[in-house]
Amino acid sequence: MTVSSAPGKVYLFGEHAVVYGEPAVPCAIERRARVTVESRDDDRLRVEARDLTLDGFTVEYSSGASDAPDVNVPTPLVEAAMGYVDGAVEQARDVADAPDAGFDMVVESDIPLGAGLGSSAAVVVAAIDAAARELDCDLTPEEVADRAYRVEHEVQDGQASRADTFCSAMGGAVRVEGDDCARIEDVPNLPLVVGYDGGAGDTGELVAGVRALRDEYAFAADTVEAIGDVVREGEDALAEDDVSAVGKLMNFDHGLLSALGVSSRSLDAMVWAAREAGALGAKLTGAGGGGCIVALDETPATETALSYTPGCESAFRAELDREGVRAE
Ligand code: PMV
Repeated sequence: MTVSSAPGKVYLFGEHAVVYGEPAVPCAIERRARVTVESRDDDRLRVEARDLTLDGFTVEYSSGASDAPDVNVPTPLVEAAMGYVDGAVEQARDVADAPDAGFDMVVESDIPLGAGLGSSAAVVVAAIDAAARELDCDLTPEEVADRAYRVEHEVQDGQASRADTFCSAMGGAVRVEGDDCARIEDVPNLPLVVGYDGGAGDTGELVAGVRALRDEYAFAADTVEAIGDVVREGEDALAEDDVSAVGKLMNFDHGLLSALGVSSRSLDAMVWAAREAGALGAKLTGAGGGGCIVALDETPATETALSYTPGCESAFRAELDREGVRAE
């Protein structure tokens, strides 16, 4: 039996614009997905999912076969989740040159699903690492990141950047620009607070919405480029340990993302509650449309204010996780 875990992430800067080649800076947080893998005697997969915000489920099937799994949750969710797990298993089979390997897998996660915290990337990264090790293949975090990206890219119809998967595999804060990915060393301690509205945005739809705006209006394309400028300033602020400048630039980034139509009433309410509580900055994280915001505050004021904000289901402190994928 082999167990691996990988962290979720928040975007300090740059979501959406990263899809068009601008840089982004995601940052891993101490909330993890854990995948347990045990080899089977046949080529089937049995996947049990727990704690995925929504009801857990168990599926047993032959990978690639058309026997529709009989499960206790709505089909779109199962299809999405299975797409990621299936893709991860394919990568492990490929690495080990074991096309018929079958597994019993348990997926556990304390990362809210589809809420901008990189839950799917964390599951894919942990699943590739665990399944490959179960087949006696040790991959470097960079190799796991690359294979996890291929899975996300395929499941999300070519709309994924490398940001989530690279960040989850490597840990810490990372910089992603197109295919160039690197860890940012010497990141200051960031007092991250997350607010979660209990919902999820549709990443594909939100990315398509920004693309349409960008095609229609030159000023929308300029807005995407302006996000790239904010990211570059943000990187300087991080390098100078200037946490209050990081917060100011997060506020700016949220404004630009709102202009591109990817915020929502509950995300805006949480962002403003955080700012009024004295946060150094606050913005949505991930695709938007619903899900999570991230704020910077050393005091408990933002967490408290968020917990009283209508539309906020939970608020929690999220320490920067300097460790990426790891064996458990
Ligand atoms: O909501 P998440 O964590 O899947 O992040 C999506 C980020 C986008 O920039 C909108 C898309 C991408 O693949 O980078």
